[in-house]
Amino acid sequence: MRKTDWWKNAVVYQIYPKSFQDSNSDGIGDLKGIINRLDYLKRLGINVIWLCPVYQSPMDDGGYDISDYYHINPMFGSDEDMDELIQKADKMGIKILMDLVVNHTSDEHEWFQKALKDPDSKYADYYIFKETADGNPPNNWRSYFGEPAWTKIEGTNRFYLHEFSKKQPDLNWENQSLREEIYRMVNYWLDKGLAGFRIDAIGNIKKRLEFKTFQPDGEDGLRYIGDWVLNQPGIEIFLQELTEKTFRPHNSMTVAEANVPEELLNLFIGDLGFFSMVFDFSYTDIDVPATGEWFRPKAFTPEELKKTIFESQRMVQEKGWGALYLENHDQNRSVNKYIPEKDIGYHSKTMLASLFFFLRGTPFIYQGQEIGMENIRMDSIEDYDDIATRGQYKRAVNAGFDKKTAFDIVAKRSRDNSRTPMQWDSGKNAGFSNAEHTWLKVNPNYKDINAADQEFSDSVLKFYRKLIHLRRDSKYSNIIINGEFLPYETEDPCVIAYQRIILNERLLVIHNFQNIKSYIRIPGKNTEAVIGNYTGNYHQSNTCQELYQLSPYECIALYLNT
Ligand code: GLC
Ligand code: CA
Repeated sequence: MRKTDWWKNAVVYQIYPKSFQDSNSDGIGDLKGIINRLDYLKRLGINVIWLCPVYQSPMDDGGYDISDYYHINPMFGSDEDMDELIQKADKMGIKILMDLVVNHTSDEHEWFQKALKDPDSKYADYYIFKETADGNPPNNWRSYFGEPAWTKIEGTNRFYLHEFSKKQPDLNWENQSLREEIYRMVNYWLDKGLAGFRIDAIGNIKKRLEFKTFQPDGEDGLRYIGDWVLNQPGIEIFLQELTEKTFRPHNSMTVAEANVPEELLNLFIGDLGFFSMVFDFSYTDIDVPATGEWFRPKAFTPEELKKTIFESQRMVQEKGWGALYLENHDQNRSVNKYIPEKDIGYHSKTMLASLFFFLRGTPFIYQGQEIGMENIRMDSIEDYDDIATRGQYKRAVNAGFDKKTAFDIVAKRSRDNSRTPMQWDSGKNAGFSNAEHTWLKVNPNYKDINAADQEFSDSVLKFYRKLIHLRRDSKYSNIIINGEFLPYETEDPCVIAYQRIILNERLLVIHNFQNIKSYIRIPGKNTEAVIGNYTGNYHQSNTCQELYQLSPYECIALYLNT
């Protein structure tokens, strides 16, 4: 059966519920808060929401540690609130995706508790346990958050595997009855009217277990676990079954968090692929080494960024459909990542927006990105809530960095940069909450950067609205959604330009990725300016010069009909 691809027309907005809107003044965002803000999202123009996990959870890893898949965490509201959100959003033409976290559960999940209590129970085989004769761990893998990947159960020589925190034991997908439990749960949500899922760490569900001591790759004597748990042979059997038993019959939209190598891409996103699209990490993790060590950041140039984006577009276009994004709850703010600090402002922010928004694929906007929210700088490592930030800091210090340097580097990349409360207005707590204390600090720049103020002038918010409108509901929609992607050669390596093409129609999108002027050759006459971030230049371009002069961080999209 071929997938019907309604999601190609979607623009998705990602919500981090803990930080979106608090409705009951406890300092924590909640579902009722989201319901209260649906008007804002409608006006922005998006038509799909992806909700980060709201299931019951001890919140060791921001809710990615689920203790009950069927119920809503009281911190966020009730099961009824979730139903209400799905229904109200639906009435406004907005569909909801939830996060599906099935590589692991919380250690507080009933299955794991039963497995601990009785090693002979059927639940023991839902997880990955290994007993050793000498009481040493089965091998020296390092989890993604920096600790050893095996944790010993007190008073025994029995260990369990966790790729993430020790409160996130990995599930054993080899066990059929576990798989059936997962499918039942997925269908429970889809039957409620959910449009689909963003699927967490799904490339990790097949493990290649080997028990020995590997050559360490860090001062801690451990070895990065990725090579044994990412995209392992045999994973396709699980993914095929999952899709056939759940998503396909519902025609769901599915976005897999899985960095898939080119040779596997067809299986994942081809016509008969497992998922509607996958998140590719190549350009969002361009500053992170392959081992995931943020504390050893990699420098990159606009030219490298261009190559990476173009390569990702080429690959995805050959096989299927892609997901476009610059930010999410695991990334720092995109403006801080891609733009030198002194250049951060309206022009560089809108240029970044245009750069990703006109690519081929479904765009995902992360909350606050549409108003140009920026990184936060907190005072000390204790102010950070994110488990990965603490882990990276500890490793940096162990690796010999002095504490100040370690903190500076880690703070810049911290996932908490994007998890601070949404900045709605210039009032108390940026309009996020009436509480005395919010669960994570509000970024002190909220008086300058907030949604309410951006109604009154040329703003990043208005630019995003326009981009969304152009894509979803304009005479350019067809070319923006369906046009073929083609790089456009420029003499200046810091100018990033590409085209979208359908028959004799062409959209040329140009970005001057630097704080100095540049120029670009424009093919043909009869160009029509579609959107740009320098209003003056924008008009000029209607009379098309062959050499078009670009202002610092200018972006402009031109439509050519030949
Ligand atoms: C994914 C999530 C991240 C989480 C991890 C473990 O990468 O996006 O937030 O920490 O999986 O579930
Ligand atoms: Ca609340």
